[in-house]
Amino acid sequence: MFKILSSLSLALLFVFSCNVPTKSKTYQNGVVITAHYLASDVGNQILKDGGNAFDAAIAVQFALAVAYPRAGNVAGGGFAVIRTAKGDYNSLDFRETAPKAAFEQMYLDENGEVNPDLSQKGHLAVGVPGTVDGMVKLHQKYGKIDWKALLAPAIKMARNGVALSWLEANKLNDYREQIKNQNRGKDTNPYVRENLFIEGDTLHNIALARVLLRIKENGRNGFYEGETANLILTEMEKNGGIITAEDLQDYQSIWRKPLIGEYREHKIISMPPPSSGGVALLQLLSGAEQYKMNELAFGSYEHIHLMVELERRVYADRATWLGDPDCCKVPTSDLIDNEYLKDRFSDISMTAKTNSQDVKAGCVEVIESFETTHFSIADSEGNAIAVTTTLNGNYGSKVVVEGGGFFLNNEMDDFSSKPGFPNQFGLVGGEANAIEPGKRMLSSMTPTIVEKNGNLFMVLGSPGGSTIITSVFQNIVNAIDFKMQPQEAVDAPRFHSQWLPDEVYVEKALLSKEVFEKLNLLGHQIKKQSKIGMMANISTTTNGTYIGVPDTLRHADSKAAGY
Ligand code: DON
Repeated sequence: MFKILSSLSLALLFVFSCNVPTKSKTYQNGVVITAHYLASDVGNQILKDGGNAFDAAIAVQFALAVAYPRAGNVAGGGFAVIRTAKGDYNSLDFRETAPKAAFEQMYLDENGEVNPDLSQKGHLAVGVPGTVDGMVKLHQKYGKIDWKALLAPAIKMARNGVALSWLEANKLNDYREQIKNQNRGKDTNPYVRENLFIEGDTLHNIALARVLLRIKENGRNGFYEGETANLILTEMEKNGGIITAEDLQDYQSIWRKPLIGEYREHKIISMPPPSSGGVALLQLLSGAEQYKMNELAFGSYEHIHLMVELERRVYADRATWLGDPDCCKVPTSDLIDNEYLKDRFSDISMTAKTNSQDVKAGCVEVIESFETTHFSIADSEGNAIAVTTTLNGNYGSKVVVEGGGFFLNNEMDDFSSKPGFPNQFGLVGGEANAIEPGKRMLSSMTPTIVEKNGNLFMVLGSPGGSTIITSVFQNIVNAIDFKMQPQEAVDAPRFHSQWLPDEVYVEKALLSKEVFEKLNLLGHQIKKQSKIGMMANISTTTNGTYIGVPDTLRHADSKAAGY
């Protein structure tokens, strides 16, 4: 079966390859890839000014909060995976936490039914923000140049204004009513104005410039205490939110040991819980390694079927076992154990799909749009950092902090509001991801670094909710098994499945009539999708230079900036 290389698959591959634009460039010293060209330029300048990859990451995070407010943030959270030039690995968890007054049934109505509006919009949806503390800790441990210099570009952008791209103008217009609804009686400038936005309109954000200035002058205290904290607390008190001064003061980002695994002689370094990303990625790769992937034709029904069957089992494990390791026992090492995974994937058939209702979580001892954002950076010394950062939904809870000019996240929706009830990404969960005060909500963010023979091979990651894991998985398989060039591996069409719902999402470019029919015959429910994920991929050449591959096919504002 694996040796079948159908003429159609070959033809597809050929047609696809011919359409692949050759956009990627090579850089000698360093490169920054983000979802917004202005933020990429900021990061690149920091590198040129003598900053390292970690300095550039901090400047990019704050620049994105200004230039890319739908996902860039000061009041969200995220994860960073690090590989230093010396070959040390680390990961930083600056994920939001549930406020102390949060409780398991806080999104249930009087009949015990989940009210998703409460976990997705407005003040109750907000988790205690982690970004600013995360950036401070990153700087304390790895920063090379002055903190103030890292805030300066974002402050300048907020003050002088940012010209809206076509994409950003339209996104703000799409969300105009939702933003108005969550901010009644408040000044929603610059995000909503009297007229719809058009490309080239300039957003000035003086309030956000002041917040950033306080962070520049006072570090962590510029956000979690004093004027900025007061603005957040007033916002909460006036609107039924539950975040308190103590919640803000007590927030701590955490250094965690990254998850490290092997895939066909490559080292995979990824994010441990409370992200499900690293565990799920290592499980998927271990499953893929049990097959001769390189004998499958890319985009053939066999390729899609096999990967979907792996994903079905891995997402079932995610729903049952994964949560915040500081609040519940998460059997991480058991879940990525090779013996367990051999057994876990042993019932995969190449002639029929498995029904998701027949797949339960494996037995060990003890699953959009671009609403998140990922950036990848590597510098001239050989340091690399992969950062995925989010407000969760586009513009998070849609709440703009009055006087602060920034959006608050709606990360609370990543908890399981009720066992088995799907969140906005259709992901279900159970006890391990139930709401508890101070607990971190489970994530799918998968910032990842790959090494080959001890050398940096790739720095990658993506937004896309539950599809993040599968997008990163496919990029790695495309590069290693299908031997695609970096640009081709990023451009290649993607597909996704997550156990529940029992469906397979496939980018249209991949779905010929024949592949569609064959997958249907195997029993798969296929849903066409225009785009899945948005990769920011740095790859290396054998002579040590960097290839910067932004996903401009799926997001035109993405940019690699390097020198
Ligand atoms: O942490 C998570 O898994 C989600 N909050 C990520 C949200 C996301 O990627 C939205 N973007 N498409």
